Amino acid sequence: MDKKALRQSRERKRRQIRRRKIIRAVVYLLGAVLLVIFVSRGIVKPIIRRIFGSGPDDSNTLRTEAVESDPNAAIRRPLKRVTDTEKLTALTPGWHENAEGRWYQNTDRTYFAGGFMSIDGVQYYFNEDGYIVRDDWITLGVKDYYFDETGSLEPQRNHPLLALTFDDGPGPYTNRLLDALEKYNARATFFMLGIQIEEYPDILPRMQELGCELGSHTWNHKDLTTLSLEGVKEQFRDTDDLMLSVCGQTAKIARPPYGSWNDDVLETAGKPFINWCVDSMDWSYKDAQKDYESILSADGLGDGAIILMHDIYEPTVACVEMLIPKLQEMGYKLVTVSELAEASNVDLQLATYTNFWKSSLEAGDVPGYRGTATTESSYEPFEFTISDGYGEYREEESTEDTEDIYEDESEEEEYQEEDSSEAYDEEYSEEESW
Ligand code: NI
Repeated sequence: MDKKALRQSRERKRRQIRRRKIIRAVVYLLGAVLLVIFVSRGIVKPIIRRIFGSGPDDSNTLRTEAVESDPNAAIRRPLKRVTDTEKLTALTPGWHENAEGRWYQNTDRTYFAGGFMSIDGVQYYFNEDGYIVRDDWITLGVKDYYFDETGSLEPQRNHPLLALTFDDGPGPYTNRLLDALEKYNARATFFMLGIQIEEYPDILPRMQELGCELGSHTWNHKDLTTLSLEGVKEQFRDTDDLMLSVCGQTAKIARPPYGSWNDDVLETAGKPFINWCVDSMDWSYKDAQKDYESILSADGLGDGAIILMHDIYEPTVACVEMLIPKLQEMGYKLVTVSELAEASNVDLQLATYTNFWKSSLEAGDVPGYRGTATTESSYEPFEFTISDGYGEYREEESTEDTEDIYEDESEEEEYQEEDSSEAYDEEYSEEESW
């Protein structure tokens, strides 16, 4: 082999080595780029998301389950909103207090908001901004909850409930009565006649809007025990048909005219009969002041009472305008009959009811009573225990779902609308006027 051939061979080898070096460098570079991508997606992104929030992810399934399992439970919200700058400055987990109130920071840099949460065995309610409710009421559904000065739920404390009921309408004064109900955020039940609905059909949708209950008082106020069962059937069917065409619903409860009924009539009507325990005698007085005094002095007036009045008389409506603020001042909450039943743990049966007094419930006189506390509220789905005030905490199953919820801000807004927070806000401000 001569010198020239040797040089060419070396040159080839050198080129080969250079090529391998370049390939290796490219492979390393690619590897490094991929590593950076994976690391940033897996580690950096979640951190960024936790601090600043970011786009959608796939926690929808978990969210739905959490909403279904408990819409009233507090959610965790990351410390990231513009309005939360004050919270951001206090970065230690645990309780914090500022001018707005008391709030709780978790170890994962979230805070509780918009629902109940049990911390160290105490039930709190966190409002939408994450502050606990103190020395105040909130209302969720038919239940009221009171929280003491420290924010602890007082399960025994509750508003006594009353159901105002109005028969024989609607009439020319019913709209004025609805004005009073609206003004004081009260609800009532109307046992209406078919012939009167024909006269005043437009008022039924307004009753619905105000959360009032629409009951049947038959078509034309006959004593049902004097009619054939076919006649009884007609009385309710015709009224239901008209109600359905006027406001899209039929009556779920009924009141037999004169409170007169028997088992056959009840069976044929096919609706729970609601009579009363306080008779205002407004039909005989026709005097607002006398109506007012007779109701306030009635023996039956108390938690769970059903009061009978007639909205077809002007003095009755004038009485109600004085009566509602007075009853509220006495601590009463005015609800519909069905709400009263629900709050009393009663599933209305094909039976006749006159009151939901605690004494009647406990004596077994109220059909469909499911037992336990009457209007007492308790709420214990969440167990949340702080071991040392800072680091570790233990959670029951149900909170595991909520843990992932806060990650997606856009979905969280949707969740907030789905739960009862809207109703809560409304009710919450209503409480002030009581
Ligand atoms: Ni009547």
